[in-house]
Amino acid sequence: MSCKEGELCEEGRKRKVAMLVLGFMALIFVALSLMSFLDSRGQVIPKNVQYAGFEAVQGKRVFQAYNCMGCHTIVGNGAYFGPDLTNTYDITGPAWLEAFMPSAASWPTQAAVQVQLNKPEIAKEAGVDGIEAYLEKYPGAAERIMRRSGHASIMPNLPLSGDEVSSVIAFLKYTSQMDTEGWPPVPRVAGLTFPHATQMPAAAVSTVVSPQSGAVANALEDPVALGEKLVKDTGCTACHSTGSDTVIGPGWGGLYGSVVTLNDGSSADVDDAYLTEALLDPNAQIAAGFATGLMPAYTGILDTDQVAAIVAYIRSLGGE
Ligand code: HEC
Ligand code: HEC
Repeated sequence: MSCKEGELCEEGRKRKVAMLVLGFMALIFVALSLMSFLDSRGQVIPKNVQYAGFEAVQGKRVFQAYNCMGCHTIVGNGAYFGPDLTNTYDITGPAWLEAFMPSAASWPTQAAVQVQLNKPEIAKEAGVDGIEAYLEKYPGAAERIMRRSGHASIMPNLPLSGDEVSSVIAFLKYTSQMDTEGWPPVPRVAGLTFPHATQMPAAAVSTVVSPQSGAVANALEDPVALGEKLVKDTGCTACHSTGSDTVIGPGWGGLYGSVVTLNDGSSADVDDAYLTEALLDPNAQIAAGFATGLMPAYTGILDTDQVAAIVAYIRSLGGE
């Protein structure tokens, strides 16, 4: 233990070094412990979420009620059948999600996203006006439209109401603003093919990729087939059936050539002009028993040839 008089004292020196190192470690320990009490670094925590706080909580309930977590991971929890949803809002934005959630079994087309973006509250939420600016701001939406729009998805359609869709989006917005230190990592799926997704016919692909030129060429070929494609791509069939039953709007089966009663008590013959107006200025004539403002106006979304093709398609579903 002790050093002999006159000899070089190795042990004492080593002990000093050890005590110094120990003291230094203790300092680091205390400093780090104190730092852990500092405010979290700009992280979004429930206390400082201002926007739509209530809606986000509602959305979490919707998320639980539909057992989204049985298929999806969010903030590190859940299953891996579907993609991680933590950052989805950040990259795809509100308009894409509004277009996707109500009919999740197929991937939204650009037109379907644009319809959503035409709603002032969604454009405000997205912080852009116009689809080009939107796709630039939300590259995930652009990438999904490019790669998969119009294809079948392997997520089932869920019977979500409009309110439930809005709250679930508020919830996804909340999780996308959390600081998860880079989680989830970007999945390396770009360029993969999806064998389970049904391929669109080549003609329809050109309609989606280039709505103007492709549509004109196809309309000249077979307007009815193009119309049938367009009503799916544009999302009409979320609200209309091709039979006679009402979904949200009236069914199209047997509509053409019939006489419809309007909500002001008058009646109108369903011909090409009536259908065209129903598409471009839906609130001009409201079918009896339906609410004003539900059917979106497609002015600026569908061009003349596309409207003509849809009219031809609805005509083909008409009565005698
Ligand atoms: C039965 C399983 C299942 C359930 C339940 C489910 N999803 Fe999905 N979801 C999927 C799958 C699978 C995909 C990917 C589809 C594909 O790639 O074709 C998906 C895709 C998505 C996407 C697009 C993600 C992306 O990155 O493109 C969103 C958003 C989404 N789901 C939200 C939800 C929400 C919200 C719920 C609950 C209301 C829900 N899902 C319930 C299976 C499910
Ligand atoms: C959000 C739901 C919704 C979407 C999406 C929608 N519609 Fe409608 N549509 C309605 C409602 C509700 C009515 C009835 C009110 C009215 O007459 O405007 C209606 C009415 C119509 C009518 C007149 C029917 C009649 O009996 O007078 C036609 C035609 C029509 N829609 C075609 C379309 C086409 C084509 C698309 C897609 C390009 C489309 N709708 C998209 C909800 C929708």
